[in-house]
Amino acid sequence: MKPKNNKLKTKVVIIGGGPSGLLLSQILTKENVENIILESRSRDYVLNRIRAGVIEHGSMELLLESGVGNRLLSEGSKHSGFLISSENNEFRIDLNLASGKSVYVYGQTEITLDLYKALDQSGTEIFHEVKNISINDIRTKNPQVNFETSEKVYQISCDYVAGCDGSKGISKNFIPKEKLSFQEKNYPYKWLGILSKSKPVHKELIYANHERGFALASMRNENLSRYYLQTNNNEDISAWPDERIWDELKKRLPSKFSSNIQMGNSVEKSITPLRSIVVEPMQWERLFLAGDAAHIMPPTGAKGLNLAFSDIYYLSNSLIDFYRTGSTSTLEKYSERALSRVWQTVRFSHWMTNLLHTTDEKKSVERQFQLLELQELSINLAAKKALAESYVGTPY
Ligand code: APR
Ligand code: PHB
Repeated sequence: MKPKNNKLKTKVVIIGGGPSGLLLSQILTKENVENIILESRSRDYVLNRIRAGVIEHGSMELLLESGVGNRLLSEGSKHSGFLISSENNEFRIDLNLASGKSVYVYGQTEITLDLYKALDQSGTEIFHEVKNISINDIRTKNPQVNFETSEKVYQISCDYVAGCDGSKGISKNFIPKEKLSFQEKNYPYKWLGILSKSKPVHKELIYANHERGFALASMRNENLSRYYLQTNNNEDISAWPDERIWDELKKRLPSKFSSNIQMGNSVEKSITPLRSIVVEPMQWERLFLAGDAAHIMPPTGAKGLNLAFSDIYYLSNSLIDFYRTGSTSTLEKYSERALSRVWQTVRFSHWMTNLLHTTDEKKSVERQFQLLELQELSINLAAKKALAESYVGTPY
């Protein structure tokens, strides 16, 4: 049966119902700026994604100000340091060196749950499993967003469109190709991630540089461990049964910890390539890009989610400024402002990735430089402070 046409009107259409889109909607809704979220997947699918777990100080403050940070404070765990190990040396990075700030370990899944709950309470319109989104008249004061659900074809008339649809999203495609720059760097390795029902091996995160490859021991709570292993680029998850993963983790983590590693059954396992992408500009006419739709980077520095949130801080403030004052001056500067922090963050993620991951040549010049830099970092307070400041997140 041909679906009935359905004409809707709102101020801001948000394409993508992941952390970026949900947080933008929550902040706008709190300020009575009407918005509608269009998400291509089901809510369950979005809520079952296993992603990031380290929340920067600034992200924690933003979530609290947005009315969705209480569970993070009560159930998340505050971390004021982490370990780095290499060869037979291990040392701690004290995050309090960064003006007393900390980070929180709290799964992105939980943040998404908190945001959906808040948006349900406010009655914000979220369309799930939408298809065939198109953005029209983006150069006018009245853009139109068309989309379909299984029942109907909709047309939304709006003031602005926020592309929060992630690295595989379509919103960036509505910026003319000649206006768009797409800068990409691919790393010669992948991360294998495992989530297991087991007690974490240590109360803080352990970043292990090892000649066999990088390993990271993280967690979600005291009964849920999250581990990562550097693998070659041609690796497939089918070649990594749980036993092989545990065996490799024991070889790469410092022996004082790996000897008491608790091997639980994997709840989730995945392999993802490491790459950096920055899309410029992050705005064109009345379309704004935020989060993974505009940038991705290696997860080494735990920055993907946090950088998405700083984009949303800038974009939401600019939109609210417009609706309060009628001025578009901060909106016009969004891309420039956001990209400044994006490039700083992509650079930090690149630096931390190169510091900790091992290339094939065991005795290469690069390996010697890497070991010397780690040795220097272990004794140099200024270097530790610089790392701590980047890790907790620079001010917005
Ligand atoms: N139409 C509608 N929704 C779409 C479309 C589309 N064409 N394409 C993608 N989406 C949805 C995805 O299903 C996803 O739910 O957009 C959402 C984008 O969410 P994320 O990819 O999580 O990106 P973002 O919200 O920016 O969050 C960034 O999430 O994935 C992690 O590593 C990432 O930690 C980072 C954070
Ligand atoms: C995680 O727990 O998923 C995590 C923690 C720290 C990182 C990357 C991922 O640097």
